[in-house]
Amino acid sequence: MSFGAATIRIEPLAPRHDRTAFRCGDDSLDRYIREQAGQDVRRGTARIFVAVACDQPERVLGFFTLSAAAVVPSDLPPEMERRLPRHPIPAALVGRLAIDRSVGRRGLGSVLLADAVKKTKFAAATVAMSVIVVDPIDETARAFYAAFGFRSLLGPQRRMFLPIP
Ligand SMILES: CC(C)(COP(=O)(O)OP(=O)(O)OC[C@H]1O[C@@H](n2cnc3c(N)ncnc32)[C@H](O)[C@@H]1OP(=O)(O)O)[C@@H](O)C(=O)NCCC(=O)NCCS
Repeated sequence: MSFGAATIRIEPLAPRHDRTAFRCGDDSLDRYIREQAGQDVRRGTARIFVAVACDQPERVLGFFTLSAAAVVPSDLPPEMERRLPRHPIPAALVGRLAIDRSVGRRGLGSVLLADAVKKTKFAAATVAMSVIVVDPIDETARAFYAAFGFRSLLGPQRRMFLPIP
């Protein structure tokens, strides 16, 4: 089974969401959604969206975080840098994105990333942002983001970016 609008819902993280069984294969991301995510929302440092199955709406199957960020123009490819002012460029950061291993390689990661891009485009109509930035944790994550058209930034953080269409 693959995932789509008829099978899953994406909604803001709330106390009713059960995160205890969430395992994505990376301990730091598992700990984050279990222990730290709620605090980030309360402090206003990240908005967090979770995916749940329509027929099991408590169990978290995946999540992503969205925050405001900035990109130094010199980290962008020269053809983009040339067209931009010299000060930091406003951006949206998908700081973390993960799906439960039980539903891996069935398209849920893609559905979450597409939703993050959609939400960012919508927000950018009100608060200007030029790029979406992601923080891949390893080479698998880089391959996942590259499949969506994300390219590497030049800075030391090894982030990737996608111009907001
Ligand atoms: C990376 C992750 C989000 C991918 O989620 P997913 O639901 O399995 O991904 P999808 O099924 O939507 O795959 C979309 C495309 O990404 C690429 N991709 C996904 N997993 C991949 C892997 N393990 N190796 C190489 N490419 C991969 C492929 O191009 C894939 O398309 P295909 O299946 O048609 O070949 C998921 O594996 C995960 O949560 N990993 C642990 C946490 C993590 O790395 N998060 C990202 C950085 S914070």
